[in-house]
Amino acid sequence: MEILRHAVVLVHLVGFAILFGAWVVEAVARRVRVTPLMNYALAISLVSGLALAAPWALDHEPNYVKIAVKLVVLIVIGALLGIGSARQKRGADLAPAVFWLVGILTLLNAALAVLWR
Ligand code: HEM
Repeated sequence: MEILRHAVVLVHLVGFAILFGAWVVEAVARRVRVTPLMNYALAISLVSGLALAAPWALDHEPNYVKIAVKLVVLIVIGALLGIGSARQKRGADLAPAVFWLVGILTLLNAALAVLWR
């Protein structure tokens, strides 16, 4: 059971890596835009995160306050990605604040996971 939980943590980390990596690729290329890959990665993070939120194969209670905060942050990232892709579909420019917030909030969620024990 424990190995299965670790495998889900690995999937969760892959979601983080793809989301943050996709964002860094755009930032380094100075393209202020969101990409479909970010949506897929967010979905991976959500599904694996919800699976990890349940208290299975653990010797302690999960930190539910932290998990709730991470869920809210993920919903905000999802809203920003939605706003971004809707604007892009209309041919409009994406506000730099929306783009930067996607990266900052993604890093924030990873920091919450690692630093808030
Ligand atoms: C953009 C969204 C997210 C990012 C970047 C992210 C990032 C991370 C990272 C890097 C870890 C590994 C920490 C470690 O092993 O020390 C982690 C663990 C975890 N995440 Fe997330 N996460 C996200 C969303 C979520 C959501 C939405 C939930 C739940 C609703 C969640 C629940 C968890 C749980 C429970 C763990 C602990 C796993 C364990 O040690 O058993 N995460 N997250």
